[in-house]
Amino acid sequence: MNKQKQTTKNTGELVDRFSRTISYLRLSLTDRCNLRCIYCMPVDREGGLQVLKHEDLLSYEELLRIVKLAVDMGMNKLRLTGGEPLVRRGVMDFITALSQIEGLDEIRLTTNGVLLHEKAAGLYDAGIRKLNISLDTLRPERFKEITGMDLFDQVWQGIETAAELGFNIKLNVVAMKGVNDDEFVDFARLAVEKAYQVRFIEFMPLGKNSTWDKSSYMTSDELKEWIGTVGTLEPLPGRRMDGPARVYSLTTAGGLKGQVGFISPISHHFCDTCNRLRLTSAGKLRACLLHDREADLKTLLREGGTDDEIRGLIRQTILDKPKGHTLAEEQAGCVGQMSRIGG
Ligand code: GTP
Ligand code: 5AD
Ligand code: SF4
Repeated sequence: MNKQKQTTKNTGELVDRFSRTISYLRLSLTDRCNLRCIYCMPVDREGGLQVLKHEDLLSYEELLRIVKLAVDMGMNKLRLTGGEPLVRRGVMDFITALSQIEGLDEIRLTTNGVLLHEKAAGLYDAGIRKLNISLDTLRPERFKEITGMDLFDQVWQGIETAAELGFNIKLNVVAMKGVNDDEFVDFARLAVEKAYQVRFIEFMPLGKNSTWDKSSYMTSDELKEWIGTVGTLEPLPGRRMDGPARVYSLTTAGGLKGQVGFISPISHHFCDTCNRLRLTSAGKLRACLLHDREADLKTLLREGGTDDEIRGLIRQTILDKPKGHTLAEEQAGCVGQMSRIGG
């Protein structure tokens, strides 16, 4: 990645109405995926899934133009998501091109790990150093039930390959009561055995046909009680760019140490420090993961929008960013599909 000098930018254009600086862009490169997780693509696991046509995705040229303008406005961190970003053809060259952008300090990737065994080395060469890998179970049989695919061993091999190459690895575990709640302790032990930060994510009601319901949701505080049986949890001081996870050191009675994180969008939301803007795989700017309002950047681009107009739409979307999510008040989730928004 470009280890260029970090430039001090005028980020005034990125400040929203609640004084948050929106410096972190998340790009969903595709809504396609090589898994069919129950909570993400629940509509039709038999293959009748609605996915975007290739021409409905923004091209890499279009994406590069947007990222350059966003970086010009002061954004300095980028995350690539999906669907599964590694299934999109040409993604390595795209990352290499991104890594040349002056002023982009961090490029990170969220993946399900299925293709890591063959793509990790290329990702490293392209400049990625940090991977967030979604993994909700450590049991091959259950992996197949949750994701629809018998690929646990391949994913595990990919994680190990990436670790050997020197990637910083965070494992994302969505906490679902009745699905994987008997494995939290195993995940916590894994955090101690390996240098992976294991992050437990509260299950959110998202997507038209979400499998979410109150009985499947657990709070981070409940989770912490389970994890506390493995060792002592102590909060680690927050670091810049650490994101929404509250990270703890976990020390076992034998003195072994690991790190676990809790992402609690529902029980302890972090909206007041939110620095994120999302570009969905359908080319829509989305100011909040949990609000369905989107701005149509793709149409603007394809109707010949100028750089100033694109910057204007980014600016307007930031100004329209809601103060936070309203799940508690509305008792309902949003309908946006995770596979298009990217988490
Ligand atoms: P880094 O700080 O760059 O490590 O990013 P991150 O922790 O946000 O990365 P990741 O994409 O792994 O996020 C993990 C999960 O946390 C997402 O898939 C979402 O489920 C949840 N999450 C991340 N960001 C937000 C957010 O802004 N709002 C809400 N409500 N949930 C979020
Ligand atoms: N609630 C919480 N996290 C979710 N993810 C997908 N759907 C949900 C949900 N409803 C997470 C996945 C993956 C990331 C892209 O989003 O675990 O890590
Ligand atoms: Fe940001 Fe919306 Fe997530 Fe709150 S719910 S942290 S405002 S993206």
